[in-house]
Amino acid sequence: MKVIVTGAAGFLGSRVADALLRKQPPSLLNVTELILTDVHQPPSRNDNRVKALALDLTQPSAAEQLIDENCDVIFHLAAVVSGQAEAEFDFGMKANLEATRLLLETARRKAPKAKFVFASTVGVFGGDLPPVVDDLTAVMPQTSYGTAKAMSELLINDYSRRGYVDGRIVRLPTVSVRAGVANAAVTSFASGIVREPLNGKESICPVKKEQELWLASPATVVHNIVYAATLEASVFGKWRAVNLPGLRVSVGEMLEALRKEAGDKVASLVRFEYNETIARMVASFPVIFDNSRALKLGFVVDSDFAQVIRSYIKDDLKKN
Ligand SMILES: NC(=O)c1ccc[n+]([C@@H]2O[C@H](COP(=O)([O-])OP(=O)(O)OC[C@H]3O[C@@H](n4cnc5c(N)ncnc54)[C@H](O)[C@@H]3O)[C@@H](O)[C@H]2O)c1
Repeated sequence: MKVIVTGAAGFLGSRVADALLRKQPPSLLNVTELILTDVHQPPSRNDNRVKALALDLTQPSAAEQLIDENCDVIFHLAAVVSGQAEAEFDFGMKANLEATRLLLETARRKAPKAKFVFASTVGVFGGDLPPVVDDLTAVMPQTSYGTAKAMSELLINDYSRRGYVDGRIVRLPTVSVRAGVANAAVTSFASGIVREPLNGKESICPVKKEQELWLASPATVVHNIVYAATLEASVFGKWRAVNLPGLRVSVGEMLEALRKEAGDKVASLVRFEYNETIARMVASFPVIFDNSRALKLGFVVDSDFAQVIRSYIKDDLKKN
């Protein structure tokens, strides 16, 4: 099976690549050829199945270079994250909408049977939301990032309806705990308030402790992204978008879990410094979901946030 991963130098893209190449436990897909691409050169991982290409997907030649008739699955994860897309409208639209359209158009011509797995976001929702959000809730993004993702979703759904690609849209919860360093996502603090204290550093929390978030761990999200490519197209019906399952947790509950797992000294490294712009954007994201469709389709969910912290400590803490 020939597979492409875009955004492969990024946090989730590199983990999706690891999951696809893994021998034990075996990957959910039998990958014989893996093209990893990003605007920054992705590592080639000492595996002869891998070809790593530095490409800017906003350039039409990039999709042309990437996709050929033998391509079976495209995991499209490349994106400019929310904070930057809000600050730089044109740049964000080019990377988050136009690059998606170019990939779809090339897949349509060269590999219409390819499964096109798109990393969307629960940030497509916003505005006046019903008490519970499900896969069919109307999108009303309150950020340019969410808007570009929502427009990409509609395109993918229509390309799939017409048989131009076989799309699968997974709307990711905020991923926490993200290893490494802070990024330009407005929800970056959702990892920072756990990661930085565990690494002995102070962390600023820009929202109130009552603010609730919809979270999933990196391992669960990566599993669910790869899993999306294993499903039959027919199970999606007329709507290719699925809200991935997550945990509803307040910042206060996250810090309480951190205190229990790592002690008072670590948890006290979080300082609250309210940021109106970030707080407003974060508050526009929904936190109460009905995930019954996703769970019925076989997507998985973390057990609780304490377990998410323990997984970070076990798998990522020493690597920072
Ligand atoms: N991490 C989260 O909490 C979260 C939540 C919801 C959705 N998502 C989505 O998941 C995907 C992966 O997120 P991530 O956290 O790994 O982000 P990331 O920023 O770590 O990775 C994104 C990658 O895309 C690359 N990229 C950006 N523009 C590009 C272009 N024009 N051409 C080629 N590559 C380009 C970047 O260089 C980067 O390596 C994104 O689509 C993101 O919108 C992430």
